[in-house]
Amino acid sequence: MKRIFEEVNLNGLKLKNRLIRSATWEGLADGEGHMPEKLYAIYEGLAKGGVGCIITGFTTVSDTDRYFGGIARLSNDGLIPEHKRLTDIARAENCKIIAQLALGEYNRTEPDYLTDKDIADIISLFVKGAQRARKAGYDGVQIHAAHGFFLSRFISPASNHRQDKYSGGSSKIIIDIMNGIRQAAPDLHITMKINCDDFIPNGLTPEMSMEICKQCAAAGIDSIEVSGNGTSVPNIRAGVNEAYFKDFALKLADETSVPVILVGGHRSIDNMEKILNEGKIECLSLSRPLVREPDLPKRWQGGDLAPSKCISCNMCYRTPAHECIFKIKSKNQE
Ligand SMILES: Cc1cc2nc3c(=O)[nH]c(=O)nc-3n(C[C@H](O)[C@H](O)[C@H](O)COP(=O)(O)O)c2cc1C
Ligand code: SF4
Repeated sequence: MKRIFEEVNLNGLKLKNRLIRSATWEGLADGEGHMPEKLYAIYEGLAKGGVGCIITGFTTVSDTDRYFGGIARLSNDGLIPEHKRLTDIARAENCKIIAQLALGEYNRTEPDYLTDKDIADIISLFVKGAQRARKAGYDGVQIHAAHGFFLSRFISPASNHRQDKYSGGSSKIIIDIMNGIRQAAPDLHITMKINCDDFIPNGLTPEMSMEICKQCAAAGIDSIEVSGNGTSVPNIRAGVNEAYFKDFALKLADETSVPVILVGGHRSIDNMEKILNEGKIECLSLSRPLVREPDLPKRWQGGDLAPSKCISCNMCYRTPAHECIFKIKSKNQE
């Protein structure tokens, strides 16, 4: 029987438990990607809170990516020492840390209009980002191909109508990036986050997404985190509607040998241990519950098994530093 609080080995990446902090963008960096003290404090809270691994918030690999404000960056060597400080914070608590490498936009050009040279440049941006991540002490990198950001649009037939080897629905761009990273930084864990369904007309279907995942697994990706568009579903209730992408993740784990991480709507330890034992899913990742209570793993481990206090209102998408509104309210009352 699998338990949450036991060691797990994801293709060589050893975690002290099966809980992962899913990427959560803080919006705190300045225009050049420099990170303020407040951001380090957030990571310290998470690492001390007992999670087995932290996946950083969205970290762009391009200096010119201005898709949204406050974006973190691994787009030039000057930022490596600031990221080293983040990885030191995690390591001090025996918490693994993975950089989520992403692009919001690429030179304001969408997939249909990219030249071969552009595509080679995009692959190279990710590979260089991974090399910097390695120098900064990250245990791994996550290729962010979900939630409608650039790589998600690239693999989706809704936004990629190319007729060449990089057509919508093809896994080739992800595999090219993965192979490039593997060559340049062989000891990094390489994971990816993908939509199991785009939930939009002509978008990635579960069948297409499954095929991409299987091809990435065959090409040697170290783990896959299963998500979907509309990722932060509101009004999740413990024991009622948790783990909304579970069926796809169970099928992927069943039909491949790649370690599968499932994100989305985990709120109770009962349901989470049930999922782990329903099939071959290895780890569960959480975002909003750890925004609400960064020390939730420690609370559960200490014997207080009450479900997450997060009510899935999604107000943290709109607050400064993406803090939980309940924390802001209680600070204001002090
Ligand atoms: C404030 C906020 C910021 C987020 N930022 C990211 C991000 O940078 N990258 C990403 O892949 N997902 C991001 N997500 C989505 C979460 O990683 C996760 O997939 C989603 O919230 C569902 O999990 P949950 O029910 O545990 O919150 C964000 C979610 C929230 C609430
Ligand atoms: S604001 Fe707080 S309670 Fe609401 S979804 Fe975010 S973390 Fe959960």
